[in-house]
Amino acid sequence: MSAAKHLYIVTGASRGLGAAITRALLVPGNRVVCVARSRNPEMEAVATASGVPVAWHLQDLAQPGPAAGWLGSVLDAVDEPPASVTLILNAGVVEPIGPITQLNENTLIPHLLTNLAAPMTMTGAFLEHTARFDCPRKILAISSGAARNPVPGWSAYCAGKAALDMFIRSVNAEYRDLPAPRAVRAVSLAPGVVDTDMQATIRDAEFADVQRFRDLKANDKLSSPEETAQRIAAYLTRPDFGTTELDDIRNY
Ligand SMILES: NC(=O)c1ccc[n+]([C@@H]2O[C@H](COP(=O)([O-])OP(=O)(O)OC[C@H]3O[C@@H](n4cnc5c(N)ncnc54)[C@H](OP(=O)(O)O)[C@@H]3O)[C@@H](O)[C@H]2O)c1
Repeated sequence: MSAAKHLYIVTGASRGLGAAITRALLVPGNRVVCVARSRNPEMEAVATASGVPVAWHLQDLAQPGPAAGWLGSVLDAVDEPPASVTLILNAGVVEPIGPITQLNENTLIPHLLTNLAAPMTMTGAFLEHTARFDCPRKILAISSGAARNPVPGWSAYCAGKAALDMFIRSVNAEYRDLPAPRAVRAVSLAPGVVDTDMQATIRDAEFADVQRFRDLKANDKLSSPEETAQRIAAYLTRPDFGTTELDDIRNY
């Protein structure tokens, strides 16, 4: 019988930070479930070459009900007891960017469904459908500095990520002190300013602080997705994971 593997579920694995986190997790002893709306053939080839078992799923995570149903069925299909199981809530969007007077239902609701409601329902599915595993359970939400300090023009993103932070604290309040293996440790982690498509969207937008982001890029001051992902992968294995429930990878 093969040794039990550490199971990771990565949302938003097709591009940017999620793709880099997936690559960082391609080490022997892991298995990874990836989800996004689009495929990334280059990533899939890298995963295949690594020999690490990786499953790719297409799912629109702007729909919290189907997102939770999808995750539940993925977890129910796990037939080898894992050594640990970790949900990485990385998928996210930054738009709409603009003044609060221009917030409207058509863009605000899909934003909050993706960045907040689906992570919440997927966490619920994770808690329920991993309860049968006799192993450590962890949740890592990718937050933002904007959850903790407002950026004018980013009210939807700031509010959604701040609520995600509080949701993660709520998970800990309900689950952290339960006896093992029912206990769950959760962290909401800001990744720094990372050179991804999301940063390109930000540089193309109009808001008061946009020049700061254009200067960061022009002066080569963005973190690379690969380096950030390596640090996040190391963070996930820290014995004290969960002690600082709202954290920032730049502290390490
Ligand atoms: N980049 C930064 O500087 C920065 C800073 C702070 C926090 N963050 C956070 O880090 C996380 C990753 O951001 P990133 O910079 O890597 O962004 P990105 O390059 O835009 O990638 C976003 C990822 O999320 C997926 N996604 C978006 N909407 C989705 C949906 N409805 N259903 C399924 N998947 C969806 C995308 O895949 P598909 O398009 O294929 O669906 C993609 O894989 C986000 O939570 C973001 O808020 C980023």
